[in-house]
Amino acid sequence: MEISIQKAGSLKDLPDESELAFGTLFTDHMFNMDYDLDNGWHNPRIEPYGPITIDPSTMVLHYGQSIFEGLKAFKTPEGEIQLFRPEQNFTRFNQSAHRMCIPAFDEEFALRALKELLKIEKRWVPSAPGTSLYIRPTIIAMDPFLGVRASYTYRFFIILSPVGAYYKEGFNPVKIWVTEKYVRAVPGGVGEVKTAGNYAASLYAGEEAHHKGYTQVLWLDGVERKYVEEVGSMNIFFVIDDEIITPALSGSILSGITRDSVIEMAEKWGHPVTQRRISIDEVVEAHKAGKLQECFGSGTAAVISPVGQIKYKDKTLAIGDGKVGSWARKFFDAITDIQYGRTQDTEGWVHKVD
Ligand code: COI
Repeated sequence: MEISIQKAGSLKDLPDESELAFGTLFTDHMFNMDYDLDNGWHNPRIEPYGPITIDPSTMVLHYGQSIFEGLKAFKTPEGEIQLFRPEQNFTRFNQSAHRMCIPAFDEEFALRALKELLKIEKRWVPSAPGTSLYIRPTIIAMDPFLGVRASYTYRFFIILSPVGAYYKEGFNPVKIWVTEKYVRAVPGGVGEVKTAGNYAASLYAGEEAHHKGYTQVLWLDGVERKYVEEVGSMNIFFVIDDEIITPALSGSILSGITRDSVIEMAEKWGHPVTQRRISIDEVVEAHKAGKLQECFGSGTAAVISPVGQIKYKDKTLAIGDGKVGSWARKFFDAITDIQYGRTQDTEGWVHKVD
């Protein structure tokens, strides 16, 4: 398929890189593509960034048939632009599409379209430490219809946003709150799918966490409310008595690409990660016994985020004396060195944009 290109008449001013937050600014152009039953995915185009005009009855607004991805483009010291494991994002995007009754798209084509867009938006990839260009591919249901069924028409779009750290804490330890009252996902549900509703469902507990002075919610399993699942914007790892542990993928946990990168690196370094069920009581006990050495999250937006405090019921677990743990630091350095092209990519994880 040919991608048509319509350039913006005037270009925005670039932001001050030292002041970049997360997800507040958008570039000059976006990628769009449509789906209908007669034509399949068609009319791929790069256009000026701008609003999508939709009918108030558009299905995505009512029933949330919507999926997204998150990945990043980085600038190397040589000024080249590169992506980190983008094929993994498009594979997961199609898995999300399948679960949400959205028609599959051609993953290779989507990656080509993204690279075309990035070539046009190159000047937006920041180079200040810790900054990158966040990429948000999204698909939404477009039928103007109020019956509950899968839509027959869709819009696929990709928008780009220059970003700094996801958390205001940056790479400093965050505080997380364990909710026993609310759950994010249940077996057989859509917890492992990157769909809008999962995030909407997390907001209420997120507000409670903020009121209590915590950055994020740590979710437990939806059946027994006993086993640790994820943080919602990241997967979670514990280091207990020198064992690195992360909850096994259960269907209700997002299969994070940064999570997978941590696991692969640890394996390569001869210190494999144990993927298993881990109960919150085990974490509390390990803390009591002085064996909870570290806790950190992993995600595209957050990269590696050390956790300095966990609140569960009336217990406050302080971890690592407010300092960044050595494993969190090691994974953060190793992953970002590859992402920013400061080290050789021996894993084949990096895709150059041109
Ligand atoms: C990401 O890490 O890219 C995410 O999608 C998490 C969040 C910003 C929704």
